[in-house]
Amino acid sequence: MKEQKNIQINFWETDSWDALAEQDVSLLKHAVFASKGAYAPYSNFKVGASVLLEDNEIVVGSNQENIAYPSGLCAERVTLFSASANYPNVKIKTLAIYAESATNEDGQLSPCGSCRQVMQEYEAKQEDQIRVLLMNSDFKVWEFKSCADLLPLAFKFNPLKKLK
Ligand code: THU
Repeated sequence: MKEQKNIQINFWETDSWDALAEQDVSLLKHAVFASKGAYAPYSNFKVGASVLLEDNEIVVGSNQENIAYPSGLCAERVTLFSASANYPNVKIKTLAIYAESATNEDGQLSPCGSCRQVMQEYEAKQEDQIRVLLMNSDFKVWEFKSCADLLPLAFKFNPLKKLK
């Protein structure tokens, strides 16, 4: 016998700044500003990201490319790695991501699988949800309550501990 299983992902959409908390608007603006710092001569696809830490510190980053293509890194990971390296024990509350162009069929930015993997691990590490805000150049915002929503059935570091 086979049983069908379903996973439901909830997220919220708005194109009105008024529907967002002031702190979220500020974080999204930081992500827009950060996208100006992208080094993307090969793709011309500029992405900016910003994280809000629990002590209200904001860390920003952008995608950084390289002629040896795989050596480059997405904005999300530049930002998360920077936040974790500089503020290792400070929890991340929200991650905002902005791209001038859309990457999925809904016209919204959609983070790559590797970034989702990194996002979910920091969330698991801090044992607290990280909200995610995605915004495209039409200022359409998608809000996810948790990184886990963007990577269901993720490979987590816990199974590795059991191997010891
Ligand atoms: N990129 C990001 O920075 N974030 C995403 O969510 C998608 C893709 C970057 C990687 C590369 O520099 C360029 O966009 C084109 O893939």
